[in-house]
Amino acid sequence: MCTPARKKLLLTVLVLSFGVQTGLVYSDTRSTPLSAEALAGRELWQRHACQTCHQFYGQGGFLGPDLTHAASRVDSTRLVSLLTVGSGQMPPLGFSDEETAAMAAFLREMDRPEIGRGELRLGTPGEGAGVQAAFEGAIEAAAAAGEEGGATEDLAEVDAGFSAYRIRPCSACHFPFRDSPVGAPDLSLVAGSLSPDSLERVLAEGRPLKGMPPPVPPLDAADRAAITAFLEFLGANRDQLEAATQALAADRSLDWRALPWWEFP
Ligand code: HEC
Ligand code: HEC
Repeated sequence: MCTPARKKLLLTVLVLSFGVQTGLVYSDTRSTPLSAEALAGRELWQRHACQTCHQFYGQGGFLGPDLTHAASRVDSTRLVSLLTVGSGQMPPLGFSDEETAAMAAFLREMDRPEIGRGELRLGTPGEGAGVQAAFEGAIEAAAAAGEEGGATEDLAEVDAGFSAYRIRPCSACHFPFRDSPVGAPDLSLVAGSLSPDSLERVLAEGRPLKGMPPPVPPLDAADRAAITAFLEFLGANRDQLEAATQALAADRSLDWRALPWWEFP
């Protein structure tokens, strides 16, 4: 069946395919959008294998939170402390001031909400692509609709809880309406399943040995009450909120081609 002529033809096709693929791969115009300082940060990122525990735009390991928008929520004091002495399951890395500055530049330049959203970004809630933004949009819409209906008393508490929740990195680990790969459970089911005492304790202390760090900044009694009201609201309106989140997420997709890919030099 395989005559010498056919073999030659097959070989030619293979060689041509290789040539075309090589041409396509190496002719990609990749203007690196990162500054020199951010590139130094990326080198540290690669050397210390941060990606094994953290994600950018959903890609990476799942022991630590998504860092796509870390620049928007981790202030410089906390970044210094994380990168020198570590925190919980984040190992101490002993970064110098210069290395910390480079890492801060890298995190800042990776944070591109106009392209897509990771799990948590501070700023205006409900904007941008991604499920987390859609979730925040759905909560805002539900709260606004409730206020029109006259249920203001409870909603003010829910609203305070939502703010206390979203200025902390909760949603970098807890995903809307499902368990996350870090083992962080679906928080819309918590109000029904956890006793008030246990809930109070998790919100005060976290469960550091099981991957839930103590909340940063800490939650005082009023914050804990507000977050509890928010979680009860999530549980009570779970079906509507999940449907609204999916509807909003449907037309906000991530533009993968525009991502500042970090693995290329
Ligand atoms: C062994 C796993 C692991 C590695 C490796 C690791 N981290 Fe972490 N990191 C974590 C965990 C777990 C947390 C959450 C701990 C906490 O908040 O107390 C965290 C938290 C953080 C945070 C704070 C996020 C937030 O929203 O609060 C930043 C920023 C961060 N890490 C940056 C880095 C960088 C940069 C590197 C590489 C130089 C790195 N991490 C390497 C596990 C890791
Ligand atoms: C670094 C990841 C991470 C962050 C950040 C985080 N959590 Fe958690 N959380 C977890 C994990 C993992 C568990 C499950 C722990 C266990 O198995 O007991 C958990 C458990 C919980 C529980 C108990 C759920 C249950 O059913 O037992 C609550 C409530 C909770 N988290 C709320 C929060 C809130 C509110 C925030 C923000 C202030 C937050 N978490 C931030 C990882 C995280």
